[in-house]
Amino acid sequence: MEQISRKGRPCWVLVGGRRRLGRALAEDLARDHDLVLTSSSSWDGETWLDGLSKTAVIRTCVWNAESPELSSRMMADLEGLKADGWAISGAVLLAGTFPEESLGTWTPASLEATWRMNLSFPFLCAQALAPHLAESACLQILLDTSIHRPWLKRLPYSAAKAGLAALVPGLAHLLAPKVRVVGHALGAILPAEGSDEAFLADRTLLKRLGDPADLARAVRYAADSPFLTGDILTLDGGRRWVDR
Ligand SMILES: NC(=O)c1ccc[n+]([C@@H]2O[C@H](COP(=O)([O-])OP(=O)(O)OC[C@H]3O[C@@H](n4cnc5c(N)ncnc54)[C@H](OP(=O)(O)O)[C@@H]3O)[C@@H](O)[C@H]2O)c1
Repeated sequence: MEQISRKGRPCWVLVGGRRRLGRALAEDLARDHDLVLTSSSSWDGETWLDGLSKTAVIRTCVWNAESPELSSRMMADLEGLKADGWAISGAVLLAGTFPEESLGTWTPASLEATWRMNLSFPFLCAQALAPHLAESACLQILLDTSIHRPWLKRLPYSAAKAGLAALVPGLAHLLAPKVRVVGHALGAILPAEGSDEAFLADRTLLKRLGDPADLARAVRYAADSPFLTGDILTLDGGRRWVDR
C-alpha cells in the first residue's frame, strides 16, 4: 500500500488550513510535508493549492463545525485516508472565530455559537483524529494569549480558549505515550480587520506583531521535541507581561 510519507515526508492534517494562518502554515509545511487541509466549504477554485502540489501531496476535506453530519464526515474522511495508506504523523487545529461580544449582548444562541466553533469543534476534531494518529505523532492546538489575560470584549471567546487550555494537558494524559499534545497561546499575528495594529504592537515587550513564520517555527519546534507534551507555548511577543 502506498504510504503518504513518500520519501520520508510526514503527513499532517491542518484543520482550518485554507485561510490566514492556516494557509500560511500550509504553505510553509508543504516544503517538506504532505498535507490534508480542511475548510468549512468546498475547495473549488482555490488555485493557490496548485503551487503547493508541485512539492507536496495535498488532500482537501470539508469539515464544517455547523454541520449536523460533522462527526460522521470526519470519521469517513479519516477512514478513507487510512484506506489510501495515509499515516498521519501530525495535526494542527487552527479553525476558529473571533467575535466581539461585550457584556450585555450575550444570549444563549450567541454563546452557543462561539463555544461550538471555538471549543466543541476542536474537542470533536481531536476526538476524531486521536485514533488515526501514528506512533510519535504530535497534535497541536491553537489557543490565544487571552488564556493569561482575557479579552474583556471577547469573554466568550476567551472562555472557549481557556477550555482548550484544559484540553491540552488532559488529552496529553489520555493519548500518552503514543501521541503528544501541545498548545500555542498566540498574541496578535494577523489581527482582525479594523484593528489598531500600532496599538497592538506597542502592547508587547518586543514592540511588534507576530508573523506567520513565528507560528510555523513554533509548530515545527513542537513537532520536533519528543520530550514536550501537555504544555502550552505562549507566542505573544511578551504581551502577557505588559500591564495594560
Ligand atoms: N490571527 C491571529 O493573530 C491570532 C491570534 C491569537 C489566536 N489565534 C488563533 O489561531 C487560529 C488561527 O487564526 P486565524 O486568525 O488564521 O483564524 P480565523 O481566520 O479566525 O479562522 C480560522 C479558520 O476557521 C475556519 N472556520 C470558520 N468557520 C468555520 C466552521 N463553521 N467550520 C469549520 N471551520 C471554520 C475558517 O476556514 P474556512 O473559511 O475555510 O472554513 C478559517 O480559515 C485560531 O484558532 C485563532 O483563535 C489567531
